[in-house]
Amino acid sequence: MNDCAIGVFDSGLGGLTCVKELNRLVPNENIIYFGDTARVPYGTRSRETILEYAEQDINFIKKHNAKLIIAACGTVSSVLDADKKTAGNIPFTGVLLPAAQAACKLTKNGRIGVIGTPATINSGAYVKAIKNIRPDVSVTGNACPLFVPLVEYGFTDRNEPITKLAVEKYLAPIKAAGVDVLILGCTHYPIIRDAIADYMGNTVALISPSSEAAKYALSLLTEKNMLSERSGTGRNIYYTSDSVELFEENAHAFLGNTINGEVHKVGIDELIS
Ligand code: DGL
Repeated sequence: MNDCAIGVFDSGLGGLTCVKELNRLVPNENIIYFGDTARVPYGTRSRETILEYAEQDINFIKKHNAKLIIAACGTVSSVLDADKKTAGNIPFTGVLLPAAQAACKLTKNGRIGVIGTPATINSGAYVKAIKNIRPDVSVTGNACPLFVPLVEYGFTDRNEPITKLAVEKYLAPIKAAGVDVLILGCTHYPIIRDAIADYMGNTVALISPSSEAAKYALSLLTEKNMLSERSGTGRNIYYTSDSVELFEENAHAFLGNTINGEVHKVGIDELIS
């Protein structure tokens, strides 16, 4: 039994899709979330910069005495070692391995698609992780750089013409490859899941790495006997490196409801000290 919080971080708001899933699966757990909204996006930056930011994010979460750290960011997860299991002495997971495992289990025709930020796709990390689990599977990947801004600016409705156009452009090669499973390899993408599902059709299963990471967190904490035995609902505390007001305003789309906890500002100087 362990009543410390689960720590979750992302480059911005996308990781809130993981918080939403954790709140559903383990509602009595406390959660500390950090969204680096002042420096989002990470997905168009160099590997070195992403690694530097990730280290600062992890150190920030560590200061809050978390019992498990989740990098709820496809970009960070793909530049870190996929087998990274600890941050110091704290259990750690990214979203990549849980998603790759779920995709390998689910595919029937052995063809998996992956979409993500340029950094995620260019890293080749998904292909490597999937091939490690199932060498027989083929993987078709494509970077979708316009998806994050479309989500950030609220073009999320399945009938939004600009979103439909971007979906068609980025997903055409994946559809042509005949995949039966598609990994939404960036934690922003579940927000435009409907538009993606409409284009891919109902024979293609969509995997949200945030949901898979939350399920993985539950099994890991169960296995290590580290789940909280708190009888009431846990507390969510959010930290953002940019405006608290903007965070509160935009979090709704990712959490599916208004923000359920206090939000605090963290200065970048605090992250790098
Ligand atoms: N949430 C980030 C990810 O999962 C996308 C935004 C970014 O580029 O930082 O990759």
